Amino acid sequence: MSQPFNRIEELRRLINRYNYEYYVLDNSSIDDMQFDFLLKELESLEKQYPEFYSANSPTQRVGGEVSKGFVQAEHNFPMLSLSNTYSKEELVDFINRAAQSLQGENLEWVCELKYDGVAISLLYEDGKFVRALTRGDGVKGDDVSDNIRTIKSIPLEIYGENIPSKFEIRGEVIFPHKAFEEFNLKRIENGEEAFANPRNAASGSIKLLDSKEVAQRKLECFLYYMIGEGIEENFHYKRLAQACSWNFNVPKYVAIAKSVDEIMDFINYWDIERHNLPFDIDGIVIKLNNTNQWEQLGATAKSPRWATAFKFKAEQAKSKLLEIEYQVGRTGVITPVAVFEPVRLAGTWVKRASIHNAEQIQKLDIRENDIVIVEKGGEIIPKIVGVERDKDNENSTPIKFIENCPICNAKLIKEEGEAGHYCPNYNHCPPQILGRFQHFVSKKAMNIDTLGAERIKMLFMADLIKDFYSFYTLKAEDLIGLESTDKENKTSIQEKGAKNIIQAIEKSKEIEFPKVLYALGIRFVGEVTAKRLANTFKNIDNLIKATKEDLLSVEDVGERIADSLIDYFSNEDNLELISKLKTAGLQFEIKETEKESNKLSNLSFVVSGTFINFSRDGLKQLIESHSGKILSSVSSKTDYLICGEKTGPQKIKQAEKLGVKMIDEQEFINKLNIGEF
Ligand code: IVH
Repeated sequence: MSQPFNRIEELRRLINRYNYEYYVLDNSSIDDMQFDFLLKELESLEKQYPEFYSANSPTQRVGGEVSKGFVQAEHNFPMLSLSNTYSKEELVDFINRAAQSLQGENLEWVCELKYDGVAISLLYEDGKFVRALTRGDGVKGDDVSDNIRTIKSIPLEIYGENIPSKFEIRGEVIFPHKAFEEFNLKRIENGEEAFANPRNAASGSIKLLDSKEVAQRKLECFLYYMIGEGIEENFHYKRLAQACSWNFNVPKYVAIAKSVDEIMDFINYWDIERHNLPFDIDGIVIKLNNTNQWEQLGATAKSPRWATAFKFKAEQAKSKLLEIEYQVGRTGVITPVAVFEPVRLAGTWVKRASIHNAEQIQKLDIRENDIVIVEKGGEIIPKIVGVERDKDNENSTPIKFIENCPICNAKLIKEEGEAGHYCPNYNHCPPQILGRFQHFVSKKAMNIDTLGAERIKMLFMADLIKDFYSFYTLKAEDLIGLESTDKENKTSIQEKGAKNIIQAIEKSKEIEFPKVLYALGIRFVGEVTAKRLANTFKNIDNLIKATKEDLLSVEDVGERIADSLIDYFSNEDNLELISKLKTAGLQFEIKETEKESNKLSNLSFVVSGTFINFSRDGLKQLIESHSGKILSSVSSKTDYLICGEKTGPQKIKQAEKLGVKMIDEQEFINKLNIGEF
């Protein structure tokens, strides 16, 4: 090989080593200046000799081109989840089941922390990082390699002994507390929505299309599980040690336990000590150490029988209730909020918690000056889970739920069978209008991420947005100089910010139909329902024309959703809005992906139960990609019922009655592969 290439290789190796020392061992042997020197030399050589380009060069860790979307790829081994236990009894049951199946073999457990982040699977071949996939549906995931390369503790090349020629290592991408707080602060400063917790932020980051942006976010990745044919080590603990020796970032919080008591000691220790960790964990994972036992026990459709998670209980605190406030959501639903004396909970001060609805207030019989028990689970807003009453508060009066909207004063409605109240003033109640705008721009809808809650408020107050169409008529000049509504923290939109907003709005025209449908904010039409409706009716015109019966035939669409859709589409204002949004260029039809084949054309399938190789939706997509039709219930029009584990008994009965053929997942795959349909 040529001299420049040798030097390039040497530099890459050195820089990888120093990155490892800095990001994994937290102990660098050179100073920043020397490091930058080497990196600069490498950059300049790579520029001079582009023929030696490598995606795995440490110079590529800053991110690259903005990608159009993620390519999906199949996992070499399904990416399973873990079963959960919540008490010592459940844990003992789990261990006993394993012990019984292994008939008296000696059991040794590896205890680890359960990192609260996003699962990732890294593939290495010949010592080189090849690709990273998200879990996806467990069978196929998104290829997020470009983003993963930006996480400096993930080695792009590994060195050491006995490295298998091909293997996968799995772990969790997390956002450490310090980095998360800094990042959220920056977002708030830029008028963007803060992330609810580090897990959501990590997951949002991994799905970004711009890897340069990911590189800014200081994510971490902990690795905890190695699989592949060439791994010789038969003990999980030793595999971890081996991975460590190959420069992987394997966390040190691991212990071997030989009894339930030893496992419980580990759990109890970390239940307290977790508050001092610089990242979030939500439990403990125990895994059998002997990997031969993994093979003997196998897995259910969702999780292995050789490992389980012990989930920590949500944290609780007590405080004195001061008053109940009422919040109005975007759909008009009224949520009572308890305001209490500030109290420390899970590392932060809290003074407000939501209570579900009027029924919950009654059930808890919560009163002013009571002691409330507040709990914080994974979500950002804590909940009230119990009430204690002091003697001197016994004569207090029960809380009477409000009758009028606290904002617009309209008389509240409580429908038959519904637990909550709502404000019917859809068109004029400000929090409903604002809430709808916020929903429209949110990540899972139109994803206009430069418009956070505060900016929406600014546009609304300046009379710039009247309906969703208004976004698409905005110009940068309209926005420059707009001031925040928060008097204490005055900020204003500058030229660059305005340009970014207009750009993000323009980009939202590419958002696919299911998300646009969800963005419209039709009552009871959540993300999943919107997806199902879009996939069934293909375009908005078909959906508008659909009868109640058509709507009810869609999976999980019941009376309540069907009525709400009919109601929405019978309103002229809504139809006019849709037509204006169409002219603005929003997507109101499904983009047909290219069909893989016509092998299943003219055939109708009902898919029921859970599957080993696919998620239910994944299997449906596969059928559709081969031109098959999906039906939601078994009828004389059905050709096949594909049965998974726990197929609905009604569906089986109906299929037997009508003589519909029933096949399992494997038969389906076989038939499809050999073209026997
Ligand atoms: S092992 C087949 N170990 O928790 C077993 N998972 O709720 C693979 N997780 O899917 C998982 N920390 O995303 C394992 N020390 C740990 C973990 C861990 C966090 C995640 C992982 C898993 C999920 C299950």
